[in-house]
Amino acid sequence: MNILGLSFYYHDSSAALVRDGQLVAAAEEERFSRLKHDSGFPELAIEFVLERAGLTIHDVDHVVFYEKPFVKFERMLLSAMATFPRSASVFRESMQRWITDKLWIKSMLAKRLGIPGSRILFCDHHMSHAASSFFTSHFEEAAILTVDGAGEWSTATLGVGRGNQIRILKELRFPHSLGLLYSAFTAYCGFEINEGEYKLMGMHPYGKPRFVDKIYELIRVGEDGSLWHDMRYFAYHFSRDSTLSEAFGRHFGRPARDPKEGDKSLDPFYCDMAASIQVVTEEILLKMISYLHRETGCKNLCLAGGVALNSVANYKLLRQGPFEDIYVHAAPGDDGGAVGAAYWAYNHVLHQPRGPVLEHAYLGSEYSDAEIEAFLRRHDIRFEKIEDDERFCDFVAQRLVEGAVCGWFRGRFEWGPRALGARSIIADPRKAEMKEKLNSTIKFREAFRPFAPSVLEERASEFFDIDPPHNGTRHYPARFMLYVTPVREDKRSVLPAITHEDGSGRLQTVHKATNPAYHRMIERFGELTGVPVIMNTSFNLKGEPIVEDPSHAFNTFSLSGMDFLFLNNYIVRADAKKKIAETRFALRHHGDSVTQMVS
Ligand SMILES: [Fe+2]
Repeated sequence: MNILGLSFYYHDSSAALVRDGQLVAAAEEERFSRLKHDSGFPELAIEFVLERAGLTIHDVDHVVFYEKPFVKFERMLLSAMATFPRSASVFRESMQRWITDKLWIKSMLAKRLGIPGSRILFCDHHMSHAASSFFTSHFEEAAILTVDGAGEWSTATLGVGRGNQIRILKELRFPHSLGLLYSAFTAYCGFEINEGEYKLMGMHPYGKPRFVDKIYELIRVGEDGSLWHDMRYFAYHFSRDSTLSEAFGRHFGRPARDPKEGDKSLDPFYCDMAASIQVVTEEILLKMISYLHRETGCKNLCLAGGVALNSVANYKLLRQGPFEDIYVHAAPGDDGGAVGAAYWAYNHVLHQPRGPVLEHAYLGSEYSDAEIEAFLRRHDIRFEKIEDDERFCDFVAQRLVEGAVCGWFRGRFEWGPRALGARSIIADPRKAEMKEKLNSTIKFREAFRPFAPSVLEERASEFFDIDPPHNGTRHYPARFMLYVTPVREDKRSVLPAITHEDGSGRLQTVHKATNPAYHRMIERFGELTGVPVIMNTSFNLKGEPIVEDPSHAFNTFSLSGMDFLFLNNYIVRADAKKKIAETRFALRHHGDSVTQMVS
């Protein structure tokens, strides 16, 4: 049975294909369209997942959309009415888009895909989140917490999954929302919503949480973590341009930071704000999961929704919360809704047995040696190749030791927002100056932004405060770079380029079974240096989606200060840099057959 899950028209449009319970392919549209956070119809992602599964749309039994447009429309309509006339302009604007596009998703899908409407299903937004995490997890039974800005009405749900069924026990409803609260502070600190939440989280170690009490004056929090916002301070329920009212700035004694300033430097006031909202977020999440633990009696927890991208909070929930183990889907945001919607239909609705655990995030496109070599020759790019993997990994590790910054492009690209050793820029984490070098010459971004380490799974506990693996099943969030843990105290000076201000690091555990070449290369780096850890950041320039094909990789390499580019076992040196026309040949290849490239 083939099920196509789709998420679009909000941000990070995506497609996912589940065949007989197995997630065969999943990708965000932005990788192919090259439009960051592309929210349009995911035409290219659909084409890719079908192609990868060897299917046409006519082989698909069900197409499942990740939310219910009519319910969301109702929420929008009622909120606008409740806040009229302040909502008049946003009402006019969004009404136009709803009436022309969003409400008619079923007929639009049927028409665009050429399938009968009877094959199209709609899943609740938060059910999509819950299903994305639980049905891809290793738990037969688990409590499930989903938290985001807003779905239809829900902004958080507490539920339980057993076998192939999920039951939602409780929900928090718009406009009261932990995700929107966090976004309000994101905007207040001068960052863009849906983009800057990461920056706010990254900034928190630089501040002191001195505004925690002041934040609690804006909200009321129940013992179960339920929230009530004093809406005098917020504007997201009636405004399109602003999440905060002027009273918000008055309450904290300073106006919202100019977005032009947000990225530039660390202002201590806003750093303190970041630290404060981080504490409040963690406290509320802890209340939610403690309640969930009491109610369900489950030992394990699944997390999803945009707030589950808060990798600092995720780790605190593991350490300070009542659950033994936590699973977070590799794409906890709305992109992951595509996977969740498909699994909801397969497991929950159609009562099919659970599929395999999602052990890794390598679900995107890949390029064969023949394709890469054809690409290099076509563009007259000088290259070398080391056929033998062992010698190749040794070559890469040696270059890292020498201080080179390298593009690593290999295998299927990652599902979700993180680069995990398929489309990564890598460097030596023992050199403090690497952080500055990567930020200023390669990522062209704010100097304070931290980098992440990739560490061999079997040796992660030597360097990070994480338990040794038990039967290889624990710490799935760390595989997807969704935990920030303390770096062991004696290792902080060893790993200056990836250790944050507060001594923590956002680690990725690398598993031999799921990414053998990346694993071997890091292992080799460890043999040479005693430190089986490398620095890993996403393979893209600031503001661009992560690279998908060799042409994006080569251009990114050429436009940045990288020293080497590795495309599979092909080596391109810095003196071969030049600008080439980008090609898109992702969607027309099978195995080793080289297909035409279209400029
Ligand atoms: Fe969501």
